[in-house]
Amino acid sequence: MSDKPIIVFDSGVGGLTVLREMRVVIPDRRYVFFADDAGFPYGDWEEEALIERICDLFGTLIDDLNPQLAVIACNTASTLVMTELRTRFDIPFVGTVPAIKPAAERSRSGLVSVLATPGTVKRGYTRGLITDFAKDCEVTLVGSKRLAALAEAHIRGERVGFDELEAEISGCFVERDGRRTDIVVLACTHYPFLANMFRKIAPWPVDWLDPAEAIARQAAKFLPDVVASLPEGFDRAVFTAGTPDYPTRRLLHGFGLACN
Ligand code: DGL
Repeated sequence: MSDKPIIVFDSGVGGLTVLREMRVVIPDRRYVFFADDAGFPYGDWEEEALIERICDLFGTLIDDLNPQLAVIACNTASTLVMTELRTRFDIPFVGTVPAIKPAAERSRSGLVSVLATPGTVKRGYTRGLITDFAKDCEVTLVGSKRLAALAEAHIRGERVGFDELEAEISGCFVERDGRRTDIVVLACTHYPFLANMFRKIAPWPVDWLDPAEAIARQAAKFLPDVVASLPEGFDRAVFTAGTPDYPTRRLLHGFGLACN
């Protein structure tokens, strides 16, 4: 059982922010990081087409890798495809959805913003989280078309300007009746890579809520406590567009991932 890998799935390298926490919370497993970079960015996809694409990929992945668990380290996918994945396949799936509930519980001002892709912002699932868990807050949804690609560029070592980022996140900062937004939910797994830059741009300090650790803890609940030892081999990364470019390979190497 324990030598079956855990799949961490995203459209690009953003899911590495979740893998990082998975390894802290669950260090004794092998991971396969799977990036559907041929489909990136997911934020622009039609819903039905995206469901079909991800389910097709998982059909192959489960046959090839026989995983014990899969983490969908992507809000844009998880807010859409979890029911279908759980219906079609017989392994546990853990999703990554906007951390609206903890944000609403923690906010003092009652003004919470959710920074996400356009896909996540328009999902019925996301609206449902607000209705169910954040009735007493004013939630501002900010969908950015560009931030996931900017995060990819930044983490590969390209220069990303503060002004470009500012244009994307300025909608998160709301002032109303002497109150100010105090929590911004990072509802795309790419965005924690930019959090240090966001902090510098923010017109006032806010909490940037990254749910990665909570996702890792949720995943741990599906796994047996005791494993004999770490299985032989390496953690691997697989990209649907084929071998990634040199800066990406260097990034993966830094994460201790052998590449396809
Ligand atoms: N990392 C993905 C997420 O958490 C989205 C990036 C994309 O648009 O593909 O939503």
